[in-house]
Amino acid sequence: MNGAPSNFILKPAMAHFQTSIENECFCMMLANSVDLKVPPVSIVRKESQKALLIKRYDRHLENDVLTRIHQEDLCQAMGLSHELKYQADGGPGLKACFDLVRAYSANPIKDLQQLIEWVFFNFLIGNMDAHAKNLSFMYQGRQIRLAPFYDMMCINIYKDLSQKLAMKIGGENRPEWIMARHWHRFAEEIKISKATLRKRLTEFCFKLIKAIDTTHSNFIIRHQGDSLVDDVIATIKKRVGKTLQQFE
Ligand SMILES: Nc1ncnc2c1ncn2[C@@H]1O[C@H](COP(=O)(O)OP(=O)(O)OP(=O)(O)O)[C@@H](O)[C@H]1O
Ligand SMILES: [Mg+2]
Repeated sequence: MNGAPSNFILKPAMAHFQTSIENECFCMMLANSVDLKVPPVSIVRKESQKALLIKRYDRHLENDVLTRIHQEDLCQAMGLSHELKYQADGGPGLKACFDLVRAYSANPIKDLQQLIEWVFFNFLIGNMDAHAKNLSFMYQGRQIRLAPFYDMMCINIYKDLSQKLAMKIGGENRPEWIMARHWHRFAEEIKISKATLRKRLTEFCFKLIKAIDTTHSNFIIRHQGDSLVDDVIATIKKRVGKTLQQFE
């Protein structure tokens, strides 16, 4: 009210996909359990209505005074219109995002590490919609850092939605066609060795599989069981299995 900064975001369900709330909540909890930086999320209900409640990361609280921290998504940072958020429409791909973070982050080692795991995570959970407006920079004083991650869910279970990756991995946007050679091409694009990519991706697969059951239990305690979450978990396990096979 009266221009005061808000400190939470209430995100309603996606049109035609009421389960997107549980889906995004579970995927954000899972991201947190594999050490991706994400804001706390929860589901709020009032009568027949529900929404995802997300804590804003672009706020600073000191002495009871809340101030705004400036953020800019990667399309804005590249001077591109929101109409260019998809690579297929001429928007940025992963190489451009990695180059930008490498050039501007005040802690490129940590931020590139987070970014690579963001790519792995979205691929493995079946999130096709990981475009450059779903990544942001935060400006803290004169320091630029990659902001925590947001807007991650398993799109793969909604077959009516596009099943093409918003940003290609090693030149391929059909997830089921991504093989070890595409990951190797991606490694070249982001300037790491093939061996490092393979090690990081396989380690991340194991970490994700290990985290799934505990996250599921925590989700059930907080929000009760949901068949949607079972479907999401089955999708993730299948994709992790296929990915590990590529590197055997
Ligand atoms: N926790 C957060 N703190 C601060 N800003 C946030 C947070 N989560 C999201 N945002 C900002 O709000 C914008 C919209 O959020 P989000 O991507 O979740 O919505 P969306 O409707 O799914 O977007 P789209 O479908 O266009 O990708 C983001 O691009 C980001 O700038
Ligand atoms: Mg978004």
